[in-house]
Amino acid sequence: MSNPSLLILAGDGIGAEVMVEVKRIIDWYGDKRSLSFDVSEDLVGGAAYDVHGVPLHDDTMAKAQAVDAVLLGAVGGPKYDDLDFSVKPERGLLRLRKEMDLFANLRPAQCFDALADFSSLKKDVVAGLDIMIVRELTSGVYFGEPRGIHVEDNMRVGVNTQRYTEAEIERAARAAFDLAMKRDKRVCSMEKANVMESGILWRDVVTEVHADYPEVTLSHMYADNGAMQLVRAPKQFDVILTDNLFGDILSDCAAMLTGSLGMLPSASLGLPMANGRPKAMYEPVHGSAPDIAGQGKANPIACILSFAMALRYSFDEGAEADRLEAAIEKVLSDGARTGDLMGPEGGTPLSTSEMGDVILAALDASL
Ligand code: IPM
Ligand code: MG
Repeated sequence: MSNPSLLILAGDGIGAEVMVEVKRIIDWYGDKRSLSFDVSEDLVGGAAYDVHGVPLHDDTMAKAQAVDAVLLGAVGGPKYDDLDFSVKPERGLLRLRKEMDLFANLRPAQCFDALADFSSLKKDVVAGLDIMIVRELTSGVYFGEPRGIHVEDNMRVGVNTQRYTEAEIERAARAAFDLAMKRDKRVCSMEKANVMESGILWRDVVTEVHADYPEVTLSHMYADNGAMQLVRAPKQFDVILTDNLFGDILSDCAAMLTGSLGMLPSASLGLPMANGRPKAMYEPVHGSAPDIAGQGKANPIACILSFAMALRYSFDEGAEADRLEAAIEKVLSDGARTGDLMGPEGGTPLSTSEMGDVILAALDASL
């Protein structure tokens, strides 16, 4: 049987340097666990624009559709701020999500014990935190029509449309309930049913789908209250289900509970392919961090944890995903820190590749 295939799209900014460490981890699995992947690489975002004049070439899109999983680094940077909207780096990422139909975006926020002191919240509020945000990723205001900027009565008007079909809400809800069944069996759905019709429909459809999951406890919350509750008492949540835009915002908020945005992985999953694996793309939640790009300072852990999610959700290698997550937990509890994880007491931070070194050493020690 041929090896599973991976397409690496490192993208912009720190995407390239964190992905170097992921490639070392992938090689380790091939060498030490006989778990080999056919890896190809291509361009996305500003890096693709520089070469092709578009943030995602059609050939790259076709490759992404054909592989078992895509690993993405990050897109964007100040160099591209003035580009036309249609060719901005972010459009490449959004095209991948839309055309691969990656409707379920899983963003786990876990607070590693060793980092509980690094959160901007009090330690007892975040210690032991383990929540999963399921963000709908292919619809809502990110893609709704009509959209654009036009002139009315000599005045410019900007328009975006929040639009959800029942089917779109239903499949995202099922993803959240299915995950909850493997966790603490609680789903909190967040919308703004108090002001938005799409929120009323969201609440209705989620409630209907819930009938198929009698073991799961469902609650509903307005998204603004949800944001407040996330910083007040985040451990009340197990799975949070929400739409594309609220999910974008709430997941950045949840990320900081864990100490650093440099720690959060994500999986974007779609429908099963012919081989039974879901269409999938894995990426860190952090962006391209242009301020530190190219300096070897970036924390590679979010990107490495994204590969762990690939092992779990695409390749049915849950035990190997556990091994990789345990290796990361070990190095953190041993005190390994990149710059983003330095407390006020200071110390010398590890470089990106030094963090990769200690994680590989912990993997070796796990054998
Ligand atoms: C994210 C990012 C993206 C989004 C950007 C880069 C388009 O913020 O994945 O959370 O808004 O979805
Ligand atoms: Mg975001």
